[in-house]
Amino acid sequence: MTSSRRGFPGHLDTEAIRKDFPVLDRVLHDGKKLVYLDSAATSQKPRQVLDALSDYYEQHNANVHRGVHVLAEEATALYEGARDKVAAFINAPSRDEVIFTKNASESLNLVANMLGWADEPYRVDSDTEIVITEMEHHSNIVPWQLLAQRTGAKLKWFGLTDDGRLDLSRIDELITEKTKVVSYTLASNILGTFNPVEEIARRAQEVGALVVVDASQAVPHTAFDVQAIQADFVAFTGHKMCGPTGIGVLWGRQELLEDLPPFLGGGEMIETVSMHSSTYAPAPHKFEAGTPPIAQAVGLGAAVDYLSAIGMDKIAAHEHAIVEYALERLLQVPDLRIIGPTTAEDRGAAISFTLGDIHPHDVGQVLDEQGIAVRVGHHCARPVCLRYGIPATTRASFYLYSTPAEVDALVDGLEHVRNFFG
Ligand code: ALA
Repeated sequence: MTSSRRGFPGHLDTEAIRKDFPVLDRVLHDGKKLVYLDSAATSQKPRQVLDALSDYYEQHNANVHRGVHVLAEEATALYEGARDKVAAFINAPSRDEVIFTKNASESLNLVANMLGWADEPYRVDSDTEIVITEMEHHSNIVPWQLLAQRTGAKLKWFGLTDDGRLDLSRIDELITEKTKVVSYTLASNILGTFNPVEEIARRAQEVGALVVVDASQAVPHTAFDVQAIQADFVAFTGHKMCGPTGIGVLWGRQELLEDLPPFLGGGEMIETVSMHSSTYAPAPHKFEAGTPPIAQAVGLGAAVDYLSAIGMDKIAAHEHAIVEYALERLLQVPDLRIIGPTTAEDRGAAISFTLGDIHPHDVGQVLDEQGIAVRVGHHCARPVCLRYGIPATTRASFYLYSTPAEVDALVDGLEHVRNFFG
């Protein structure tokens, strides 16, 4: 791998990109420059997104879909314009298939609740099964546990191989005629693994099960096409893709959104209301009760513009190179064990590891003293830690602004951690 400390020849101009992100200039304690390696938790935000947010509040702020005045019309156009941008970014067949939520967790809870209240043929009940995987984020475990408890459905899951991949060897036993829904992550937030789409989709289609994909760690990092991944629903969040917090997306196939019942009731999601009953607005509004996250959607639209202008293929190539370099360097650190795939193929930009028997919280603290921000803990994926017999991991995660020099800083920092703990 050829690299300069600033980047990889022929790839992104990270020096120029980093100028868009004001926070990356921060100098922390003892004059240490920030090395931000926690983008899987939340990405940093470029000036273009920050400007879109302040422009919205300074020039246009109003509630949407309700007013006849100029600001209300502008706010509505900006909010619905953001929906158009997101729809184009994920190649949705229709803008009406894009529902704005608060985050990916809310998107996944929304699907679980739609199915929980649905009539046949979607109804989840005590004769049916739900299939997930052992590498899910808690947001793709707990909503299905709640649904299973409420309906009596059985919850089953794919286990993991020792090298951090899905064990698909029992796929035909796991996904059966009883399966109503299969929900899995496209890219693990803790292991970094990218999961295969075709095999799961093929089996789900054979038995007529719906497929839900948590794409929170995929959409920010690679060109994404909802029509190519053979899913019925896709959830992701804005704050991991240069957008603000407080905005998530649920994409769903139009005919399902037409058939399935709403979850939250309130203003904006209705057609008519009487004291006896209500009828509902068509999707996506049926699933967006109350005042939506307007400014956040506008910010997400600006993030989509920003990423698109750079090019998702270029971002993916840059991250692949960074991950390849990081794995190569980390694997040379004594006592370091990668939890997850150790090659850059079919893997994303989050790398988890343990360092001898030094507790990850101690690793994180000593790295922080050197200005290096990583995440430590179970990363809201505790079953993964249980599977590999560890309490927690240290996780370094990369994005379009990450540089080889930051990988070097991490490796130097880990050397310091080892010396510190003897
Ligand atoms: N889901 C985010 C993470 O993995 C918060 O860190």
